[in-house]
Amino acid sequence: MLEALKNFLSRLFGRSAHAPTDKKEEDRVPRHRSAKEPIARPRVNLDGEENLRVILMDEEENLFVEIQRRIKAGQFELPQLRQTSMAVMALANDPSADIQEITNLIQADPVLSSQLVKTANSALYSGLEPITSLHDGVMRLGLRALRTMILTASMKGLVLSGKGLTRYAEEVWAQAASVASIARAISPFTEFDKEKAFLLALLHDVGKFPLLAMLAEQSKRYKGGVTRALIGKAFAGFHEPVGRALAEHWKLGDELVSVAGNHHDFASNEDFGNSAALVSLAHKLDLYLSLRDEAGFLELTESPEVEFLGISPARRMDLLEAAKRAYSRRSKFKAAA
Ligand SMILES: [Fe+2]
Repeated sequence: MLEALKNFLSRLFGRSAHAPTDKKEEDRVPRHRSAKEPIARPRVNLDGEENLRVILMDEEENLFVEIQRRIKAGQFELPQLRQTSMAVMALANDPSADIQEITNLIQADPVLSSQLVKTANSALYSGLEPITSLHDGVMRLGLRALRTMILTASMKGLVLSGKGLTRYAEEVWAQAASVASIARAISPFTEFDKEKAFLLALLHDVGKFPLLAMLAEQSKRYKGGVTRALIGKAFAGFHEPVGRALAEHWKLGDELVSVAGNHHDFASNEDFGNSAALVSLAHKLDLYLSLRDEAGFLELTESPEVEFLGISPARRMDLLEAAKRAYSRRSKFKAAA
């Protein structure tokens, strides 16, 4: 009877029936959201390992097993970036690229053109004068920031294009954008430049989007629909391998492929451990800020990530402050939008 009750609660809250015994960890998980509460915040950590221990109902478990089978067999669809985006990104990867060639490509794409003008004139990049041409915009941003801008715009369009489970896609996107802002803000405490930190964090959980599409497609054959518990279990089980496959498909380069494929167990990422630790830290900072868990947030000064990144103890409180400022700037911006 007790076990049945535990399972029921586990399903209701999308958490494990054999939940961690650490009371503090338990307290950090917020109550389940009602339909009227805002979508993006506070959020639970949908991809945490604890989600793997959730016990699903038979029908959902079958769906989970089918998704597992499809992933192992490589039978899943990966979203395609627009051709212009891929072409501009390929050129932007080449330090000797012809700026005029890049500008011409962007010019032929109205969405990218307007995004470039908007970004170049935004507070982050703006000079004294607004830009008057796309060429000026490319020059102002530089190739690395241009690549970030294109990926951000293309990804946002793709993931929010309504291929099913849009509510969750919006939530995952909001989290990725917030984690990316935090990673950029804390980059001066690490070896990373701000553009690289932003991009790594924006893309680290990219595997969740094909998974949502797969769940939406697969669930059409079942009556019950897709629950948060099932999404959490699928994310926890598969978002890294699917992320690796998607980053490879988008030709994002070795580092992004490696981080998308292995960031939770960052210390085991032999090639890009620091990059994986950075996104893991930014993710945790965002999570505790969104939960308004001050104690958990402060404990991050002693997290394995800050140790791994070699951030000196004297600078760790400043790092937390930088993360907090980035988070509240973003929240204010969202509230005003
Ligand atoms: Fe993740």
